[in-house]
Amino acid sequence: MTFVKLDQRFSPYQMPCVIIGSIVDGRPNFMTLTWASRVNRSPPVWMVSVNVKHYTMEGIRENKAFTINFPSIDLMQKVDYIGVTSGRQADKSKLFTIFYGDTKAPMIEECPLTMELTLTSLNELPDHFVVLGTAVNTFFDERFLSDGKPDLEKMNLIIYTGIEGNPSYWSIGEMQARAFKIGKEFKA
Ligand SMILES: Cc1cc2nc3c(=O)[nH]c(=O)nc-3n(C[C@H](O)[C@H](O)[C@H](O)COP(=O)(O)O)c2cc1C
Repeated sequence: MTFVKLDQRFSPYQMPCVIIGSIVDGRPNFMTLTWASRVNRSPPVWMVSVNVKHYTMEGIRENKAFTINFPSIDLMQKVDYIGVTSGRQADKSKLFTIFYGDTKAPMIEECPLTMELTLTSLNELPDHFVVLGTAVNTFFDERFLSDGKPDLEKMNLIIYTGIEGNPSYWSIGEMQARAFKIGKEFKA
């Protein structure tokens, strides 16, 4: 076997491609983010990693709240736009239909799934803040339910891969196997 050394920053996939919503300078603002994951089961705590220089960070720090919106493939072009354009240069507040829950953070009606979170903690790394937020409300558009359950195929969420030099958006592929099950069936 021969291994080659790669740049230490190489990371083949970030996976979820979400939209972070916040109020900055009194105006709704949205940015694309792929460094996101749920990191606690109960309460549901999420981690999002936001560059220290982003306009969004000002809103998260000021209002201590933000939203995570999960867009479908049909929103891809707008998703890319808000990921290459800062709220400092352009008003991104009119790109989506906005609704509010209990926090002062904007949610996007066009996304099948959206949640609002309160700021739990900030951990400053050299160029990003690891932002932890606790979900206080999770909203799911009933059009994306099948038999009363969230239907991943209908949702058709955006997946992002950051293969060096060729960052791309993907849709979810075919389900391959049941997790937490095939391992139990393995006979060593
Ligand atoms: C596909 C994609 C993924 C991104 N992921 C992140 C991320 O995980 N964290 C981050 O801080 N910025 C990320 N960005 C960059 C921000 O979305 C971008 O700089 C945005 O303009 C910041 O907006 P703001 O200045 O209005 O907050 C990503 C951009 C794209 C296009």
